[in-house]
Amino acid sequence: MSASGNDRTGRRPVLLLLSGPNLGLLGERQPEIYGTATLADHVDRADKAATRSGFELKHLQSEHEADLVAAVHNARGTVEAIVVNAGALSHSSWALHDALAAFDGIVVELHLSNPDAREPWRRQSVVAPVADGTVAGFGGLGYELAVEAAARLVNGRNSGPPGA
Ligand code: DQA
Repeated sequence: MSASGNDRTGRRPVLLLLSGPNLGLLGERQPEIYGTATLADHVDRADKAATRSGFELKHLQSEHEADLVAAVHNARGTVEAIVVNAGALSHSSWALHDALAAFDGIVVELHLSNPDAREPWRRQSVVAPVADGTVAGFGGLGYELAVEAAARLVNGRNSGPPGA
């Protein structure tokens, strides 16, 4: 199925945005690092980008690793792409790593900040090895970029020429 149109059932391809622990505090939490926009602002931005690309956006935020793992399981066979800002779980959750490894769609890792420019423990991502790519350091713009990248990879995979 191409995301440039609905499939035969009229369903728009689905892009799942996952938000990990503490991201619900965006807007109040360390604004000097993460900015003043709220998670709702970022989800709205991602939603508009998804709509522009012909996708339906679904979003889940949770403080709990198990919820995120279960969401990835549920995405199998129903979701074309996952954009994931796993917060601090990006650096520690091998369970999330394994769940994403078992997901056969596109995976884009997302961070508001640039973890490579911060504390040493943030320089390891356990999501990165199972992601098609990472968008980091662009603040709220990253939500648009990550959604657009995921949508274009889905379309490239389904209908574009190899390597596009
Ligand atoms: C973050 C970066 C992580 O290191 C941190 O734990 C977060 C937010 C980001 O979006 O920049 O919670 O994922």
